Amino acid sequence: MKPLRHPFSENETWETQTHSRKGKFVRRWDRLVERWSRDFGSSFVEDYSLAGAERHRALHRRVYDGRIEVTEHRIRLHNLPASFDGLRIVQLTDIHHGLFLPFHAVLDAVEMANRLQPDVIALTGDFVTYSRGYIEPVAAILGTLRARHGVFAVLGNHDFRVDAGAVTRALQHHSIEVLRNRHTLVRHAGQALPIAGIDDFRYGADLPRALRGIRPGVPTILLSHNPKIIRRAAVHQVGLVLSGHTHGGQINLPLAGTVFGRKPEQMRFRSGWDRLGPTQIYVSRGIGTVVLPVRVRCPAEIPQFHLQPHELGREAQLRRTAES
Ligand SMILES: [Fe+2]
Repeated sequence: MKPLRHPFSENETWETQTHSRKGKFVRRWDRLVERWSRDFGSSFVEDYSLAGAERHRALHRRVYDGRIEVTEHRIRLHNLPASFDGLRIVQLTDIHHGLFLPFHAVLDAVEMANRLQPDVIALTGDFVTYSRGYIEPVAAILGTLRARHGVFAVLGNHDFRVDAGAVTRALQHHSIEVLRNRHTLVRHAGQALPIAGIDDFRYGADLPRALRGIRPGVPTILLSHNPKIIRRAAVHQVGLVLSGHTHGGQINLPLAGTVFGRKPEQMRFRSGWDRLGPTQIYVSRGIGTVVLPVRVRCPAEIPQFHLQPHELGREAQLRRTAES
């Protein structure tokens, strides 16, 4: 598939492409979906039904084989060490394991992530919604994720509301490194890449503490559940922020728009790629749902990022040469 040019990519730091796979039909459900699609004027109605387990399995196969999108993005970072050229990061966010998103659906998302054979997996919070009972099950499934350089996580606002300590312990028990206002170094071929993580924006996020010890100019990947961190991240010259939290709006009606408002500028830093000064951000639509067990024109997403060193444009090269 041909890479698509993003409207913001004039400085050649970001490109994307998407693909999804078709799954099996549940006839009765499809009739309902078709009716909704006609009503909403779109075919993008995703379901997270509360129906029985047998039907659930089939529905979620449909959702996760037919509606989940694996989106691919090339991210160019200044000063990226040569040994990390081509590093692939897969992000899973807002799983919200619970009634709306049962065990098999989480398992399907994990299988899809593993099939991508990533170097790093980033989990950006909201593993559960309201119930402690889902903490251990979701951690156990996520414990089957496989990435060459490790699986790293931060907590979301729902994790804090349920029990941040219990979520942290469960994830760590299943070999997932939880980054709570700290960073770690991914090492490869004698070079290191910092991956930092902060607690949720409203529950004690401490970016200076998370970045302490990272030298200026070193490209850093920051995991932050809430994309609101973007302004502070730009001040600290973070290279790339990976976020979730917004579910991409979750329900995107043709006339009413998303829950965040109708205008595209109101969705800035709330869905997809953007940049603020030296900092790029990607906000994934995530996997699960809250409040209502539906997505409308806003499919679940697993983004995959391909890191590349940013090469200066000719003009910038000339300017830098003249300055030196
Ligand atoms: Fe969420």
